[in-house]
Amino acid sequence: MSRCHDDLMILRVRPDVPLPRFSAGQYTVLGLGNWEPRAEGCQPEVLTNRQPNKLIKRAYSVACAMLDGEGNLLEVNDSPFLEFYIALVGQTASHPPALTPRLFAMDSSSRIYCGPRFHGHYTLDGIARDADIVFAATGTGEAPHNAMATQLLKTGHRGRIVNVTCVRWKKDLGYLATHRRLETMFANYRYVALTTREPENLDPSRPDFVGKRYLQDYFASGAFAIETGISLDPGNTHVFLCGNSDMIGVPVHSQESGRRYPRPQGMVEILESRGFQVDRPHDRGNIHFEKYW
Ligand SMILES: Cc1cc2nc3c(=O)[nH]c(=O)nc-3n(C[C@H](O)[C@H](O)[C@H](O)COP(=O)(O)OP(=O)(O)OC[C@H]3O[C@@H](n4cnc5c(N)ncnc54)[C@H](O)[C@@H]3O)c2cc1C
Ligand SMILES: NC(=O)c1ccc[n+]([C@@H]2O[C@H](COP(=O)([O-])OP(=O)(O)OC[C@H]3O[C@@H](n4cnc5c(N)ncnc54)[C@H](OP(=O)(O)O)[C@@H]3O)[C@@H](O)[C@H]2O)c1
Repeated sequence: MSRCHDDLMILRVRPDVPLPRFSAGQYTVLGLGNWEPRAEGCQPEVLTNRQPNKLIKRAYSVACAMLDGEGNLLEVNDSPFLEFYIALVGQTASHPPALTPRLFAMDSSSRIYCGPRFHGHYTLDGIARDADIVFAATGTGEAPHNAMATQLLKTGHRGRIVNVTCVRWKKDLGYLATHRRLETMFANYRYVALTTREPENLDPSRPDFVGKRYLQDYFASGAFAIETGISLDPGNTHVFLCGNSDMIGVPVHSQESGRRYPRPQGMVEILESRGFQVDRPHDRGNIHFEKYW
């Protein structure tokens, strides 16, 4: 395991037995017993003596180191370990978070439950080789995008690939150096990092002030198109959205008011206003999303 900082880690899990192959973008389940210790400083959890032992399980996208030790592009399925990119949820408003305080108390010799199967349709299935691909993530939502970007580059994808991540602070960009290296290796690869809590995001008196840069603002303002040269043509672009559900903004359906976009405005509303359509199992589209909560 490697700590990007106290609240963010890259975790490598070496399975005891061979696992089936996964598709880049899929997730599996990690788990620890509720008897395992919790990291210091997290919201306390009170377990009574009468509470039975149980395995706490959560979904995690399979991430990817992207480059090997020699700087060569990896094959996503050709590794003796599975990589995960995990943020510590130290507290929530509703309940003490169960799994991440325990994950952040592990050390490199710890054992962990890893599900035997991979799940999900958040993959590159059906994407044409010359399509432009835009990945947009909040926080650790970049995990599946790094696996998908690696697969696209490995298979000689001909369209442009832009990987955008929005984080609180620059220190939350756990894969930044690798992305910068990939940009020098592949002319069609670009990584864009947006922050929201750095001094240049918060202090209007600074000459480098840019404001809080949410993904929605970045795309709706036209800054994405200007900075990357990609005009978001729905005819030849697929957008993948992963992380915070408010950023994604999936429309809600009700009998009374029909289909309504949530507030605050999410990426789905912005993209649909430009002619994009949500991808569904029997109605293929070009907006793909994975909600982490
Ligand atoms: C398909 C899928 C894939 C996922 N992949 C990842 C992944 O690759 N990396 C990862 O860190 N998490 C991922 N998650 C979230 C993960 O499953 C857990 O919910 C998270 O680690 C918190 O677990 P917990 O038991 O500590 O807190 P819980 O008790 O489960 O508390 C959940 C609350 O924590 C917050 N939260 C949950 N996940 C995050 C997050 N990633 N960043 C910020 N706040 C969060 C939300 O407010 C949520 O309501 C994924 C979720 C899904 C559904
Ligand atoms: N990352 C850390 O260093 C850190 C430190 C302490 C605790 N934690 C805990 O770790 C968990 C993960 O934190 P995280 O920073 O990785 O993930 P996060 O809370 O999802 O934030 C990731 C990025 O998404 C932005 N965001 C928030 N709401 C949004 C919205 N409605 N639309 C678009 N973007 C939005 C955030 O901006 P905002 O600045 O507006 O939030 C931030 O830049 C949280 O539970 C957090 O409390 C993290």
